[in-house]
Amino acid sequence: EATLGAAAAQSGRYFGTAVAVNRLNDSAYTTILNREFNQVTAENEMKPDALQPNRGQFNYTNGDRLVSHARSRGMKVKGHTLAWHAQQPGWMQSLSGSALRQAMIDHITNVVTHYRGQLDSWDVVNEAYADGGGGGRRDSNLQRTGNDWIEVAFRTADAADPNVKLCYNDYNTDNWNDAKTQGVYNMVRDFKQRGVPIDCVGFQTHFTGGSNYPSNYRTTLSSFAALGVDVQVTELDIRNAPADAYRNVTNDCLAVSRCTGITVWGIRDSDSWRSSESPLLFNGSGQKKPAYDAVLTALNSA
Ligand code: G3I
Repeated sequence: EATLGAAAAQSGRYFGTAVAVNRLNDSAYTTILNREFNQVTAENEMKPDALQPNRGQFNYTNGDRLVSHARSRGMKVKGHTLAWHAQQPGWMQSLSGSALRQAMIDHITNVVTHYRGQLDSWDVVNEAYADGGGGGRRDSNLQRTGNDWIEVAFRTADAADPNVKLCYNDYNTDNWNDAKTQGVYNMVRDFKQRGVPIDCVGFQTHFTGGSNYPSNYRTTLSSFAALGVDVQVTELDIRNAPADAYRNVTNDCLAVSRCTGITVWGIRDSDSWRSSESPLLFNGSGQKKPAYDAVLTALNSA
């Protein structure tokens, strides 16, 4: 197959990208988007600050625009993200305790209900674990509402749409030996044992270079999958886009039957949140880079 999406579809997977909705007005951008990708994640437009800028006042214009663009072309959509310590609207940042907990529940219920039946999955909770060697939760206003905030978020989303897949998403969870990876793994195992509704775990996979790619990445993906969840590469970008590292990540996903798709975090280097590192598959002129060819070849060899 000649495109990333079609090549991934041969094994029932998707190949997606983060989309910045204002770039849908750039025809060079949408030409590549529509040609290559069969899944999208909103880069910013479905975060709490974007969807509920004032309490009780929801703005779905940009999110709806992306969902409509994607669904009319048969692309899957991952909603990103319902509960996160960052990119909260100011009014939410100023809440704490039971008031913040209720605001989180109200936000999730409204947003998941709005998009019911339209999305493939939601990142229900993003980045709740701390970096470093402790393996515990990140301190945040949400965490301070009580350790059960994550399972409450998942149960609330499930009640609003029992059919959409519910994911936990984080970064620096790539190396199986890291305490952070083990912390998230233990949470997912506990959720599965107690029947908390979780369907998928996203590995952001923001690598700072080829040397940052852990040789046990495949073990990480397969170990989580063995808990009974789908796994996905959700925000892939790699400093300087080494073809080898992109090939390895792709092959690791393809080797795990429950690794259902890969999403890169932007289309052209100029679209990237770290554009100075040229971490993506297309250069600023929209031309394919060597990493693109490596990924496409790997997908076609599966
Ligand atoms: O839209 C405003 C604009 O009106 C304003 O003039 C400008 C001035 O700062 O800011 C613009 O908003 C920025 C937004 O990106 C859109 O460009 C925000 O400041 C900026 O903080 C925001 O950055 C995003 C970042 O998440 C926020 O945490 C990045 O685009 C986005 O790529 C990044 O994505 C995250 C994932 O959600 C979670 N995982 C890590 C990943 C990378 O940080």
